[in-house]
Amino acid sequence: MITIERLNLRAEGVAPGVVVARALPGEEVTGEAVEGRIAQPKILTPSAQRVAAPCAHYKACGGCSLQHARDDFVEEWKTGVVRQALTAQGLEAAFRPTVTSPAATRRRATLTGRRLKSGALVGFHGRASGTVTAIPGCTLLDPALIAVIPALEALVVEGGSRKGEMRLTVTRFAEGIEAAVEDGKPLDTALRIAVPQIAGAHGLARLAWNGEVLLQEAPPTLAMGRARVSPPPGAFLQATPQGESALRAAVVEAVGSAKRVADLFAGCGTFALPLAETAEVHAVEGSAPMLDALNHGWRNASGLKRVTTEARDLFRRPLLPDELAKFDAVVIDPPRAGAEAQIAELARAQVPVIAHVSCNPVTFARDARTLLQAGYRLDWVQVVDQFRWSAHVELAARFVWPHIA
Ligand SMILES: C[S@@+](CC[C@H](N)C(=O)[O-])C[C@H]1O[C@@H](n2cnc3c(N)ncnc32)[C@H](O)[C@@H]1O
Repeated sequence: MITIERLNLRAEGVAPGVVVARALPGEEVTGEAVEGRIAQPKILTPSAQRVAAPCAHYKACGGCSLQHARDDFVEEWKTGVVRQALTAQGLEAAFRPTVTSPAATRRRATLTGRRLKSGALVGFHGRASGTVTAIPGCTLLDPALIAVIPALEALVVEGGSRKGEMRLTVTRFAEGIEAAVEDGKPLDTALRIAVPQIAGAHGLARLAWNGEVLLQEAPPTLAMGRARVSPPPGAFLQATPQGESALRAAVVEAVGSAKRVADLFAGCGTFALPLAETAEVHAVEGSAPMLDALNHGWRNASGLKRVTTEARDLFRRPLLPDELAKFDAVVIDPPRAGAEAQIAELARAQVPVIAHVSCNPVTFARDARTLLQAGYRLDWVQVVDQFRWSAHVELAARFVWPHIA
């Protein structure tokens, strides 16, 4: 019998010399360890934090990893992950209350499809390696995404190879669902006819196959502030509407009355377009098609201040202090790797306010340390949990140059 001491960053239980799947701190468990991991533990003494998982698929599905814990435990654990990452860099912070997205609100997800001898299986990877779990009763996804699974299955039957898996990214837009298929069979004449027919028959708003749009009834759009934006197929979007609202509210508040703002790693304009209601915004991003979508949304909106865009690799060519000097505030929302090079330049430039959004507490804490060592103050941190029941942690934070309120 072993006792769980804590959770690791994958939300697995940790005991001396072994990790234990889906176990909670303080629990006494037993089970067979394979290569240092107990995958199917028997829980002898359950924690008071343990609850019955709300989803019928939880036992087999690997899509969620924390449904066996109370919501307040998960919230505290995620805050603790950020706090520990900061502590490891010698930093501390004031935390605002966490905002957690409700169940059944994920509007974007990547599912796996596998062709079977007869039919197809579409769902999340299972807990056991090499399996895919069907998820008709999933409690995480927006029901509109679950409703298109029959369409995805039909696409896998038509265009999946028996050997490999297909990645199916589904996104809910105002006009309906987009499916972006990767690793499908190469398009030949027959597939070019069959795939749009399937997508059309199931009422998909847009379908992209290996990066090529094969069906688009009307460009699917999302509201970003006063603008309507039509992102390119499969483009990054915040995972839930509630998560996006919470991050946007945090960014808008952090930026405050700034009149000239740079939005770095701007995507399709999640922050740039709402900020343009009160400030001129320069949006910088690596993907030119995403910036085209942002720009098009801005041009067709009314009442917004000027928005300019720049396609630029911010890892290799960060904005330099002379370019940053003209901004009162910077928003930065990098991918998981963080923004080491750009943060180093921000630290030199001393822009008055930095609104930092991050999906990786470890790289956030590393970059926060650079800013604090340069003289910035960390005003607050807010955890935004839009990956409910997973080990992912997202946050927004405000850094200020010392003389700023
Ligand atoms: C976490 S997303 C944030 C997007 C946007 N702020 C939003 O909330 O929708 C990170 C963005 O960074 C972009 N990106 C990734 N690597 C980059 C790089 N080296 N230079 C510039 N942009 C990059 C991605 O295309 C993506 O749009």
